[in-house]
Amino acid sequence: MNKVRLALFASGTGSNVMSILDYFKDHQHVEIVFVLTNNPQALVVEKAQAFGVRIDVLSNEIVENGNILSTICEAAAIDYVILAGYLRKIPADFIHNYPQKIINIHPSLLPKFGGKGMYGDNVHKAVLAESEVATGITIHFVNEEFDKGELIAQFSCALAADETLATLKEKIHALEQLNFPKVIEKTVLN
Ligand code: GAR
Repeated sequence: MNKVRLALFASGTGSNVMSILDYFKDHQHVEIVFVLTNNPQALVVEKAQAFGVRIDVLSNEIVENGNILSTICEAAAIDYVILAGYLRKIPADFIHNYPQKIINIHPSLLPKFGGKGMYGDNVHKAVLAESEVATGITIHFVNEEFDKGELIAQFSCALAADETLATLKEKIHALEQLNFPKVIEKTVLN
């Protein structure tokens, strides 16, 4: 059986990228072909370089072009695209070329705290401001409506009474690292 080929898109510190790279290192059926970022300053760039995986650093202008993204992914025979902390909008024509093949992770229990402007710390701040008792993560397919594609899995965690932005962020990252690679594996090998 040929390995399922994944591309990871990321814009930030890359904790999800690293947990996925570690999980699929030497995997029998799944291969991470490259990491793509729109942010040359992102920590994920040096982490991916140190790991030894191919990393494509593109401008914001280029990643808005669905034809270019499609050409890059087609040339590398990518089966699934994983958005692992990727904070740019995915162009509609790229989504059309990869229907139900683009998987996103979002740091809340969608549909709560989703939509435009809801990413990274903005989500955690909104969760804290609403005094929620629980929050969590959502893994879903990407469609043209922001944060509204078909649900794949959700995992929740309790919020402590004295929860801060830093502790919540850490809690969510731990939940992501524990669950995202396993959910990717199950989904792409389905
Ligand atoms: C993660 O918590 C991820 O869920 C979130 O960005 C963070 C990136 O962290 N993604 C979104 O908010 C997408 N809407 P990382 O760079 O350390 O993986």
